[in-house]
Amino acid sequence: MDLDLGGRSALVTGGARGIGFAMCELLADEGARVVVADIDAEGARMAAAKLTAAGGTAYSVAGDVSDHADAREMVTAAEAAAGPLDVLINNAGVWFVRKFVDSDPATWAAEFGVNTHGVLNMCHAALPGMLERGRGAIVSVTSEAGRVGEPRTAVYSAAKAAVIGFTRAVAKEVAPGGVRVNCVALGTIRTPGTEASFAPHLWPRIAKGYPLGRTGDPSDAAAAVAFLASDRSGWVTGQTYGVNGGYTMP
Ligand SMILES: NC(=O)c1ccc[n+]([C@@H]2O[C@H](COP(=O)([O-])OP(=O)(O)OC[C@H]3O[C@@H](n4cnc5c(N)ncnc54)[C@H](O)[C@@H]3O)[C@@H](O)[C@H]2O)c1
Repeated sequence: MDLDLGGRSALVTGGARGIGFAMCELLADEGARVVVADIDAEGARMAAAKLTAAGGTAYSVAGDVSDHADAREMVTAAEAAAGPLDVLINNAGVWFVRKFVDSDPATWAAEFGVNTHGVLNMCHAALPGMLERGRGAIVSVTSEAGRVGEPRTAVYSAAKAAVIGFTRAVAKEVAPGGVRVNCVALGTIRTPGTEASFAPHLWPRIAKGYPLGRTGDPSDAAAAVAFLASDRSGWVTGQTYGVNGGYTMP
């Protein structure tokens, strides 16, 4: 299916590596002008260079999505480089794997700061322009942890669940203005982030928990996000689309 993203501009938070970079690659392949936005300035710059070397059009901006001013600056810089944003992908995320009783308020603040406030900040910065232009697509990356709750990631589960509720509500607010807002809820996908969290011997065991018999690949998430970012999903808003190997079937 041709997603017809040629001429569109798309900003991907956390785009320097992992799932975010796979999204940048696919959006660039589909013809979008891609802005890699990441707290890792050098990683974002290198990712944009890689996309450009592969024939895409890409730029990088650096900032912390959990900071409201940074979010505004990233959107302003992205629009100066790539033009008014048609697509915002809220992918940046962090998690800490430990029992809730062993966790502390500093990690709660980080998990809500990036996973939840990051989404609010970026939407707050990007939505006014999208509404003025009467079009836009926002896709936020949440987790099956936010739908079913996973032990040892209780606060992360809560922070990701908040994104689902926010998506539903804001989707209703902005639908009359021509903007669609959706989420993807991901199962376990092998990335630099999850490889740091789960030792190599755990991966076959994790894979067995999935009806499709494997953990996910970043490209699995990218395909769903590209569809939701495109006009091919023009009658889809407020939804949480599971990309999860069959892990949950709500
Ligand atoms: N990998 C999985 O199994 C999985 C499952 C469910 C949901 N998710 C979600 O998918 C998203 C991507 O996960 P990943 O596995 O690719 O992670 P990752 O750790 O490999 O990459 C995350 C990227 O986000 C950037 N980032 C972190 N904090 C940031 C901030 N404050 N501001 C801007 N950028 C920031 C990092 O620098 C990095 O480039 C996250 O939202 C994560 O919660 C991942």
